[in-house]
Amino acid sequence: MARAIAHTNIALVKYWGKRDAALNLPATGSLSLTLDGFYTDTTVTLGGETDRLTLDGTAASDAETARVSRYLDLVRDLAGRTERAQIESENHVPTAAGLASSASGFCALALAASSAYGLDLDPRALSVLARRGSGSAARSVFGGFVRMDKGVRDDGEDCAASPIATPAGFDLCLLVVRCATGRKKVGSTVGMNSTEQTSPYFPAWVETHDADMRAAEAAIAARDLDALGATMEHSTLKMHASALAAQPGLWYFRPVTLAVMDAVRALREEGVTAYFTMDAGPHVKVLCRAEDGEGIADRLSQIEGTRGVSVCRPGPAARLVDG
Ligand code: PMV
Repeated sequence: MARAIAHTNIALVKYWGKRDAALNLPATGSLSLTLDGFYTDTTVTLGGETDRLTLDGTAASDAETARVSRYLDLVRDLAGRTERAQIESENHVPTAAGLASSASGFCALALAASSAYGLDLDPRALSVLARRGSGSAARSVFGGFVRMDKGVRDDGEDCAASPIATPAGFDLCLLVVRCATGRKKVGSTVGMNSTEQTSPYFPAWVETHDADMRAAEAAIAARDLDALGATMEHSTLKMHASALAAQPGLWYFRPVTLAVMDAVRALREEGVTAYFTMDAGPHVKVLCRAEDGEGIADRLSQIEGTRGVSVCRPGPAARLVDG
């Protein structure tokens, strides 16, 4: 038996598109911030006739259980073991709402399952394993700022995340502004596959991506929040523009999403340093200085249609709790 906690992360420079679907290799790298506020707590206990999955205390659907069971097959193959398992997963993240529950979920599962099956993976190997469940999960292995390399090898062994040191005094906050309730309509894999196959803007997204990675890393090293925020907004708008130009066009925005983006730009015009990003859902995440977090959260939570704002700080690496 093993229990692991992994925190979610939000990409500042996005990944969107896959260079290999079977191995889940991304078409681009990415750069993220792990958050303290949202995490998944997963326990894997070996035994039983079949794999069984409970999510927040409730038996999961057959489709969810099958996806996790296929994932455990990868772990079992690595470990040379065959036992089935019971998986209990508690999500301290709103599930499947574009708040990256797959990142913390598959990272916690990779760590708990690899430990339960007797594997002792180093963080890099854990990141490679977590990636097979979800691209963003590879980044949740580490705390703080994290870079994910897309790699060039066909076997994906060079496609892993690694931590980026945060310079002293670069104290940031990431606000999660909820703009809807319930599950998102189009999952990230379906959305990115459709963009890759049908959007004329997808090649431009990939070609311009490395420059954003370099700009974001340089901004972190220089503690330049304006440069980091500008790169972050550019990356998310390019990602969503490529999806908009898919056939059929795909957008994750709701009217309230756009209202929050407008409000962030209005704050900047008033001299407050704040920048937005969005993932495959309607919510807006806002990067700002730590000391401005609560004030900006108050202001954004007054926008009609928002469903609450969480003030998150950089969070820790994934860890085993016991077992
Ligand atoms: O981790 P996945 O495969 O569900 O994809 C995540 C995609 C985005 O959240 C939109 C971007 C990212 O890099 O996290």
